[in-house]
Amino acid sequence: MAIKAEGVTRAAEARKKEQAQYWVYLDGEFKRYADARLGLMTHALHYGTGVFEGIRGYWSPEHEQLFVLKLREHFARLQRSVKVLKLKIPISLDELCKTSIELVRKNNFRQDIYLRPLAFKSSEEIGVRLHNLRDSFAIYVTPFGNYVDIERGIRCMVSSWRRVDDNAAPARAKITGIYVNSALAKTEAMENGFDEAIMLTHEGHVCEGSAENIFLLRDGKAYTPPTSDNILEGLTRLGMIELLRNELKVEVIERSIDRSELYVADEIFLCGTGAQISPVVDVDHRPVGDGQVGPVVNRLQKLYFDIVRGRNDKYRHWLTPVY
Ligand SMILES: Cc1ncc(COP(=O)(O)O)c(C=O)c1O
Repeated sequence: MAIKAEGVTRAAEARKKEQAQYWVYLDGEFKRYADARLGLMTHALHYGTGVFEGIRGYWSPEHEQLFVLKLREHFARLQRSVKVLKLKIPISLDELCKTSIELVRKNNFRQDIYLRPLAFKSSEEIGVRLHNLRDSFAIYVTPFGNYVDIERGIRCMVSSWRRVDDNAAPARAKITGIYVNSALAKTEAMENGFDEAIMLTHEGHVCEGSAENIFLLRDGKAYTPPTSDNILEGLTRLGMIELLRNELKVEVIERSIDRSELYVADEIFLCGTGAQISPVVDVDHRPVGDGQVGPVVNRLQKLYFDIVRGRNDKYRHWLTPVY
């Protein structure tokens, strides 16, 4: 046990050393991670006044190419999020895309990666508000693998934590502070022996996972909550709607979903940039369908991974090559 703990510590230290050397972008300059320092009183750290994105890049050994998935769409969403928090990013959408690609190139990553742009209130002072504060903008990039187990399927619980309401803190904008809601739900689920939480809205409708949108399949049709049910307007969600309709010829219906519909669904999956396509095989100790990964989710996963690794020309427009 002691030997294992020592190994874990050594691996963590090695990772930290490596991370210190990554190039990051902060307020108009490329810097080493170790040199990009923020003050203890940074507003966003105390009050959650930041917005962010999570963007994946997939390495393709066949093409010897790194493909960034839906790069422009992510930055377009970031531009919508900043409006909500009255933040300003001083560079254009084109420049945001260009800078990200330049950053990945500078790091010379030739493996799967994750990009994390972050716009935040950076004044170092006390006082909760959005106005009369300095804004900063950063991009961080790191090698990244699977965020949840996407092969065997995951077990979920309906969270005792409700999703934040649009009139309390709008989930439509990817606001750092709102992720306390997700963290409460995720930890509750994991401490109860599940892999992930499914949150409900205040009205009791199925909303989303801690960092994923949700779909269920029943009698050959797919259902997903509408964007007016306090979800993040997920880009993977949009991609899934497109693939279900156009490739699998499955009708997709966006409507409010009752909790008990989770218990009688044939298939359920969560989707998001981090989680990718995660089949759900059990909800609240009730097997989904026969408790195995279902055929529609299987097909969607295959299609998705072919697309993101550049093996499907029809959807090449989802990808931006780095090199
Ligand atoms: C709360 C929440 N819902 C849904 C998603 C999925 O969004 P996307 O597919 O754009 O990554 C995410 C991931 O970013 C999320 O954090």
